[in-house]
Amino acid sequence: MSKQIQIAIDGPAGAGKSTIAKIVAENLGFTYIDTGAMYRAVTYKAINENIELNNAEALESMLLKTVIDLKPSKSGQLVFLDGKDVTNLIRSNEVTANVSQVSAHPNIREILVKKQQELASNGGIVMDGRDIATHVLTEAELKIFMSASVEERAKRRFIDNEKRGIPSNMDTLIQEISLRDKLDSEREASPLVQAEDAIYLDTTELSIEQAADAILKLANEKME
Ligand code: DC
Repeated sequence: MSKQIQIAIDGPAGAGKSTIAKIVAENLGFTYIDTGAMYRAVTYKAINENIELNNAEALESMLLKTVIDLKPSKSGQLVFLDGKDVTNLIRSNEVTANVSQVSAHPNIREILVKKQQELASNGGIVMDGRDIATHVLTEAELKIFMSASVEERAKRRFIDNEKRGIPSNMDTLIQEISLRDKLDSEREASPLVQAEDAIYLDTTELSIEQAADAILKLANEKME
């Protein structure tokens, strides 16, 4: 059995984090956790309950009455919100367009970060997000900061949306991704930044397999 280490993968939207993190986790027999799904689940519930997304207190009292469960499955991580499977619902354009606003609230981050740390507390883990190396798993043995050009990331999101049956447009995707990059990088609470001890991985020219192999090689070195 592999030595149990923590692998933190951060980076902007569409860099390939979740696809690649999932492969790395499968190869190592580790648990994979997509933290963006938690921020998405909170956003989805807030929209459905007509809660003002700039009202941090209202969001917090909603979140304190909310149960978010992440369950691994053959087809990837399933997300349950108060017992209901919302895995696909949290990927809608509406949630995507609003999630940066919700994830900018420090009180919401504090609650979710604590939950993420609990989830990571037993055994080998691959966790992806925006602040994993800088705030959630600061002691992770391997930290990766993954990125790719905006155009390439928009192209990947377009293909991903197509598979999910969600209609999209390339120009709009480029605009949305650039805006989300800006909001995620410039927010005050835990902005998206590369940790000092993280390794930069540009996936623009890499296939999914090549990127996963690069991380597996680094992980194996850490586990020796
Ligand atoms: O990775 P994603 O697109 O599913 O993430 C959705 C949003 O959640 C993203 O715009 C930023 C936010 N997020 C965050 O602030 N911190 C994380 N650890 C993960 C995601």
